[in-house]
Amino acid sequence: MSLSRRALLATTPLLLAARPVPAADPVATAPAVAASATAAAGPVRLIANENPYGASERALEAVRAALAEAWQYPVGREATLKRLIAEREGVAPEQVMIGDGSGEILRVAALAWARTGGGVVAARPTFDFLPSYARLLGAPVTEVPLDAAMRHDLPAMAAAVSASTALVYVCNPNNPTGTLVPGREIRPFVSEVSRRAPVLVDEAYLDLWDDAGEHTCADRVRAGEPVIVTRTFSKLHGLAGLRIGYAIAPVEIIRRLQPLRMSLLNTAGIAAATASYQDLDYQALSRRRLKEALAVTRAALADVGWPATDTRGNFVFFDTGRPVGEFAAAMRAEGFLVGRPFAPYETWCRVSIGTLPQMKGFAAALRRYAARRAEAAA
Ligand SMILES: Cc1ncc(COP(=O)(O)O)c(C=O)c1O
Repeated sequence: MSLSRRALLATTPLLLAARPVPAADPVATAPAVAASATAAAGPVRLIANENPYGASERALEAVRAALAEAWQYPVGREATLKRLIAEREGVAPEQVMIGDGSGEILRVAALAWARTGGGVVAARPTFDFLPSYARLLGAPVTEVPLDAAMRHDLPAMAAAVSASTALVYVCNPNNPTGTLVPGREIRPFVSEVSRRAPVLVDEAYLDLWDDAGEHTCADRVRAGEPVIVTRTFSKLHGLAGLRIGYAIAPVEIIRRLQPLRMSLLNTAGIAAATASYQDLDYQALSRRRLKEALAVTRAALADVGWPATDTRGNFVFFDTGRPVGEFAAAMRAEGFLVGRPFAPYETWCRVSIGTLPQMKGFAAALRRYAARRAEAAA
């Protein structure tokens, strides 16, 4: 299936529909699944790395309360969220920037450094939001292929940084491969490279796992290096539609980025993110749900013998052995939307991890497809 993410976003109302979740499943019937359970029937979205269980009840309550003040401009409303993030990260509130999703911050960073012609160094494939925007601004983007394990090739990236490099983008864990460069490797890289150009480390998926502290580059920010770490409320917190993400960085970098933002934040999103950030139980529940549904998916891939990356995202990247459009069309016919091709891995597919019932359904569809292929080959 060749539906691009952009085209998908343009048709969101159609695709927002998720399959109703069977009421008998104990995980699925936990309170926060209510939103997806009441959505109309339609294809299951295993395509945009969302959290299909949705927001926590505390976040939803905060949104309901915030709606009473929806008539006010949300100026300064993010102060509490900034303070909470600063406290947890061990930085000053002035070192925190809240964005309209972390995607806005990625683009603001491109605007800050790439608009004057400086180059961007990034992996290929990686999350393209920042590199594609830099290209639009006229900046050259040096794409560094992943290594044999489909991880960022740090020595090659360091070698690609030159005097004309304005910004280095590292996505850890990487999207679409899900591969993680461990903290002990990425931190020395970031320290060395940031002496030559600022480094943005996109940690959108890092907090989906319990050991995020071991791998984050936040300590490089605390050390005062020219490093920006971005995170999001769209994944772990299930708030993709309310558009809140954040960056931590040295104050002078935040001062450079902040004026380039396009608009104000939204009241509902800030309220939801502030509540969700403090709801550690819900964050732990999100992690458990992801692990469970990922295990079902991995087991099916192991059964059919398809290689898959050791993912640290809420998605899995695996080799279907044939042009990925073929598998995507078969899954579409079974009611599942899966990822587009990510060059140069034309036979690999990225599947976002849905609810446990959804992934059981997907695993069954995948096994059926593999069996049909085996039969045809016999
Ligand atoms: C690696 C990565 N970074 C950033 C984002 C943007 O997330 P948001 O703008 O919702 O915070 C995404 C979204 O899929 C992503 O995969």
